[in-house]
Amino acid sequence: MVSVLLSLLLLLGPAVPQQTQAGSYRLSFLYTGVSRPTDSLPSFQATAHLNDQVFFHYDSKSRKAIPLDPWSQMEGIEDWEKESELQQARESIFMETLQDIMDYYKDREGSHTFQGRFGCELLNNKSSGAFWKYAYDGQNFIEFNREIPGWVPQDPAALNTKRKWEAEEVYVQRAKAYLEEECPAMLRRYLQYGKAFLDRQGTPHFLCPRAELRRKGDLRLGTQGISQ
Ligand SMILES: *[C@@H]1O[C@H](CO)[C@@H](O)[C@H](O)[C@H]1NC(C)=O
Repeated sequence: MVSVLLSLLLLLGPAVPQQTQAGSYRLSFLYTGVSRPTDSLPSFQATAHLNDQVFFHYDSKSRKAIPLDPWSQMEGIEDWEKESELQQARESIFMETLQDIMDYYKDREGSHTFQGRFGCELLNNKSSGAFWKYAYDGQNFIEFNREIPGWVPQDPAALNTKRKWEAEEVYVQRAKAYLEEECPAMLRRYLQYGKAFLDRQGTPHFLCPRAELRRKGDLRLGTQGISQ
Protein backbone atom coordinates (compact mmCIF):
# COMPACT_ATOMS: atom_id res chain seq x y z
CA MET A 1 0.00 0.00 0.00
CA VAL A 2 2.69 2.39 1.06
CA SER A 3 4.74 1.61 -1.98
CA VAL A 4 1.73 2.25 -4.23
CA LEU A 5 1.27 5.67 -2.64
CA LEU A 6 4.94 6.39 -2.98
CA SER A 7 4.98 5.54 -6.63
CA LEU A 8 1.91 7.72 -7.16
CA LEU A 9 3.69 10.59 -5.47
CA LEU A 10 6.72 10.02 -7.59
CA LEU A 11 4.56 10.07 -10.67
CA LEU A 12 2.69 13.22 -9.67
CA GLY A 13 5.59 14.91 -8.00
CA PRO A 14 7.62 16.33 -10.83
CA ALA A 15 4.59 17.21 -12.94
CA VAL A 16 2.98 19.52 -10.40
CA PRO A 17 5.48 22.27 -9.61
CA GLN A 18 6.77 22.54 -13.14
CA GLN A 19 3.96 24.46 -14.76
CA THR A 20 2.42 26.39 -11.86
CA GLN A 21 3.03 30.08 -12.31
CA ALA A 22 6.23 29.34 -14.12
CA GLY A 23 6.32 30.64 -17.64
CA SER A 24 5.82 34.28 -16.61
CA TYR A 25 8.78 36.54 -17.21
CA ARG A 26 9.32 40.26 -17.42
CA LEU A 27 12.11 42.48 -18.72
CA SER A 28 11.77 46.05 -17.43
CA PHE A 29 13.80 49.23 -17.24
CA LEU A 30 13.60 52.10 -14.79
CA TYR A 31 15.24 55.39 -15.77
CA THR A 32 15.68 58.31 -13.40
CA GLY A 33 17.04 61.74 -14.25
CA VAL A 34 17.53 64.56 -11.77
CA SER A 35 18.26 68.22 -12.41
CA ARG A 36 20.45 68.55 -9.33
CA PRO A 37 22.87 65.65 -9.18
CA THR A 38 25.02 65.20 -6.08
CA ASP A 39 28.10 63.14 -5.32
CA SER A 40 25.94 60.19 -4.43
CA LEU A 41 23.14 60.85 -6.92
CA PRO A 42 24.20 60.84 -10.57
CA SER A 43 22.13 62.93 -12.99
CA PHE A 44 20.97 59.79 -14.78
CA GLN A 45 20.52 56.19 -13.67
CA ALA A 46 19.11 53.17 -15.46
CA THR A 47 18.29 49.84 -13.89
CA ALA A 48 17.22 46.79 -15.86
CA HIS A 49 15.29 44.00 -14.17
CA LEU A 50 14.53 40.43 -15.13
CA ASN A 51 11.40 39.65 -13.12
CA ASP A 52 12.24 41.34 -9.83
CA GLN A 53 15.98 40.66 -10.01
CA VAL A 54 18.36 43.47 -10.95
CA PHE A 55 19.97 42.56 -14.27
CA PHE A 56 22.27 45.53 -14.89
CA HIS A 57 22.84 49.05 -13.74
CA TYR A 58 24.02 52.09 -15.68
CA ASP A 59 24.61 55.66 -14.59
CA SER A 60 25.92 58.92 -15.95
CA LYS A 61 29.09 58.64 -13.86
CA SER A 62 30.30 55.23 -14.94
CA ARG A 63 28.67 55.45 -18.41
CA LYS A 64 28.83 51.66 -18.37
CA ALA A 65 26.12 49.02 -18.24
CA ILE A 66 27.30 46.79 -15.40
CA PRO A 67 25.62 43.40 -14.94
CA LEU A 68 25.07 42.04 -11.47
CA ASP A 69 25.57 38.47 -10.32
CA PRO A 70 24.67 35.94 -11.52
CA TRP A 71 24.19 37.60 -14.94
CA SER A 72 27.76 38.90 -14.99
CA GLN A 73 28.92 35.27 -14.97
CA MET A 74 26.77 34.28 -17.94
CA GLU A 75 29.20 34.60 -20.80
CA GLY A 76 27.50 35.93 -23.93
CA ILE A 77 24.18 36.95 -22.37
CA GLU A 78 24.76 40.51 -23.62
CA ASP A 79 27.41 42.58 -25.35
CA TRP A 80 28.08 44.99 -22.48
CA GLU A 81 30.03 47.44 -24.65
CA LYS A 82 27.08 47.78 -27.00
CA GLU A 83 24.62 47.95 -24.13
CA SER A 84 26.67 50.78 -22.60
CA GLU A 85 26.54 52.71 -25.88
CA LEU A 86 22.78 52.20 -26.12
CA GLN A 87 22.28 53.47 -22.58
CA GLN A 88 24.49 56.49 -23.28
CA ALA A 89 22.29 57.38 -26.26
CA ARG A 90 19.14 56.93 -24.22
CA GLU A 91 20.59 59.04 -21.43
CA SER A 92 21.06 61.99 -23.77
CA ILE A 93 17.48 61.81 -25.13
CA PHE A 94 16.14 61.38 -21.61
CA MET A 95 18.05 64.34 -20.16
CA GLU A 96 17.10 66.48 -23.15
CA THR A 97 13.45 65.74 -22.43
CA LEU A 98 13.88 66.66 -18.76
CA GLN A 99 15.44 69.94 -19.87
CA ASP A 100 12.55 70.61 -22.30
CA ILE A 101 10.00 70.13 -19.53
CA MET A 102 11.90 72.39 -17.14
CA ASP A 103 12.10 75.02 -19.87
CA TYR A 104 8.36 74.73 -20.51
CA TYR A 105 7.59 75.26 -16.83
CA LYS A 106 10.46 77.69 -16.31
CA ASP A 107 11.46 75.35 -13.51
CA ARG A 108 14.93 76.69 -12.96
CA GLU A 109 14.75 76.62 -9.20
CA GLY A 110 14.76 73.54 -7.04
CA SER A 111 15.42 70.00 -8.06
CA HIS A 112 13.29 68.14 -10.57
CA THR A 113 12.96 64.50 -11.38
CA PHE A 114 12.05 62.67 -14.54
CA GLN A 115 11.35 58.97 -14.53
CA GLY A 116 10.71 56.44 -17.22
CA ARG A 117 9.58 52.85 -17.01
CA PHE A 118 9.17 50.41 -19.85
CA GLY A 119 9.28 46.74 -20.52
CA CYS A 120 7.53 43.63 -21.72
CA GLU A 121 6.27 40.33 -20.44
CA LEU A 122 6.15 36.81 -21.74
CA LEU A 123 3.69 34.19 -20.61
CA ASN A 124 4.45 30.67 -21.81
CA ASN A 125 6.78 32.17 -24.40
CA LYS A 126 4.03 34.43 -25.79
CA SER A 127 4.15 38.20 -25.57
CA SER A 128 1.64 39.03 -22.82
CA GLY A 129 2.07 42.72 -22.09
CA ALA A 130 4.22 45.81 -22.53
CA PHE A 131 4.34 49.35 -21.16
CA TRP A 132 6.25 52.58 -21.63
CA LYS A 133 5.55 55.55 -19.36
CA TYR A 134 7.13 58.67 -17.96
CA ALA A 135 6.55 60.86 -14.94
CA TYR A 136 7.76 64.37 -14.11
CA ASP A 137 8.15 65.31 -10.46
CA GLY A 138 6.10 62.27 -9.53
CA GLN A 139 3.16 63.06 -11.82
CA ASN A 140 2.21 61.01 -14.86
CA PHE A 141 3.63 62.76 -17.88
CA ILE A 142 3.25 60.73 -21.07
CA GLU A 143 2.55 57.14 -21.96
CA PHE A 144 2.77 55.01 -25.09
CA ASN A 145 -0.41 53.44 -26.37
CA ARG A 146 0.22 50.50 -28.67
CA GLU A 147 -3.30 50.39 -30.12
CA ILE A 148 -3.27 53.96 -31.48
CA PRO A 149 -0.20 53.67 -31.79
CA GLY A 150 1.17 56.87 -30.31
CA TRP A 151 2.18 58.84 -27.25
CA VAL A 152 -0.63 59.98 -24.96
CA PRO A 153 0.19 63.20 -23.10
CA GLN A 154 -0.90 63.38 -19.47
CA ASP A 155 0.52 66.81 -18.75
CA PRO A 156 0.39 70.12 -20.71
CA ALA A 157 4.16 70.07 -21.28
CA ALA A 158 3.89 66.58 -22.73
CA LEU A 159 2.24 67.93 -25.91
CA ASN A 160 5.65 69.22 -26.95
CA THR A 161 7.25 65.90 -26.10
CA LYS A 162 4.62 64.06 -28.14
CA ARG A 163 5.28 66.34 -31.08
CA LYS A 164 9.01 65.62 -30.91
CA TRP A 165 8.64 61.89 -30.45
CA GLU A 166 6.13 61.65 -33.29
CA ALA A 167 7.93 64.06 -35.63
CA GLU A 168 8.39 61.19 -38.04
CA GLU A 169 5.99 58.32 -38.56
CA VAL A 170 8.84 55.84 -38.24
CA TYR A 171 9.50 56.92 -34.61
CA VAL A 172 6.10 55.64 -33.53
CA GLN A 173 6.50 52.41 -35.50
CA ARG A 174 9.88 51.88 -33.87
CA ALA A 175 8.51 52.40 -30.38
CA LYS A 176 5.74 49.90 -31.08
CA ALA A 177 8.16 47.42 -32.61
CA TYR A 178 10.47 47.82 -29.63
CA LEU A 179 7.72 46.87 -27.21
CA GLU A 180 6.14 44.14 -29.28
CA GLU A 181 9.11 42.56 -31.01
CA GLU A 182 12.56 43.65 -29.85
CA CYS A 183 11.84 43.56 -26.14
CA PRO A 184 10.23 40.08 -26.15
CA ALA A 185 13.08 38.84 -28.38
CA MET A 186 15.67 40.16 -25.91
CA LEU A 187 13.77 38.60 -23.03
CA ARG A 188 13.67 35.23 -24.84
CA ARG A 189 17.39 35.46 -25.40
CA TYR A 190 18.11 36.33 -21.76
CA LEU A 191 15.93 33.42 -20.69
CA GLN A 192 18.11 31.02 -22.64
CA TYR A 193 20.86 31.97 -20.20
CA GLY A 194 19.04 32.83 -17.00
CA LYS A 195 15.70 31.02 -16.97
CA ALA A 196 16.87 28.38 -14.51
CA PHE A 197 18.06 31.08 -12.12
CA LEU A 198 14.78 33.03 -12.36
CA ASP A 199 12.74 29.87 -11.85
CA ARG A 200 14.63 29.24 -8.62
CA GLN A 201 13.72 32.71 -7.34
CA GLY A 202 10.06 31.71 -7.12
CA THR A 203 7.02 33.40 -8.52
CA PRO A 204 7.64 36.95 -9.62
CA HIS A 205 4.99 39.44 -8.74
CA PHE A 206 3.56 40.77 -11.90
CA LEU A 207 2.12 44.10 -11.04
CA CYS A 208 0.23 46.20 -13.44
CA PRO A 209 1.89 49.61 -13.74
CA ARG A 210 -0.82 51.16 -11.61
CA ALA A 211 -0.22 48.79 -8.72
CA GLU A 212 3.48 49.28 -9.12
CA LEU A 213 2.97 52.99 -8.94
CA ARG A 214 1.19 52.64 -5.62
CA ARG A 215 3.87 50.38 -4.29
CA LYS A 216 6.71 52.64 -5.26
CA GLY A 217 5.10 55.91 -4.28
CA ASP A 218 6.50 58.61 -6.47
CA LEU A 219 8.78 56.25 -8.32
CA ARG A 220 6.51 56.43 -11.31
CA LEU A 221 6.52 54.81 -14.59
CA GLY A 222 8.10 55.56 -17.77
CA THR A 223 10.62 54.53 -20.07
CA GLN A 224 13.25 56.01 -21.96
CA GLY A 225 13.72 53.15 -24.22
CA ILE A 226 13.62 55.24 -27.27
CA SER A 227 15.23 53.10 -29.83
CA GLN A 228 15.34 55.63 -32.57
C1 LIG B 1 9.35 30.84 -28.27
O1 LIG B 1 8.86 31.69 -29.29
C2 LIG B 1 9.82 32.03 -30.28
C3 LIG B 1 9.23 33.09 -31.19
O2 LIG B 1 7.90 32.82 -31.51
C4 LIG B 1 10.26 30.77 -31.00
O3 LIG B 1 11.23 31.09 -31.97
C5 LIG B 1 10.83 29.80 -29.98
O4 LIG B 1 11.16 28.58 -30.62
C6 LIG B 1 9.84 29.54 -28.86
N1 LIG B 1 10.50 28.75 -27.83
C7 LIG B 1 9.92 27.73 -27.23
C8 LIG B 1 10.70 27.06 -26.18
O5 LIG B 1 8.79 27.35 -27.54
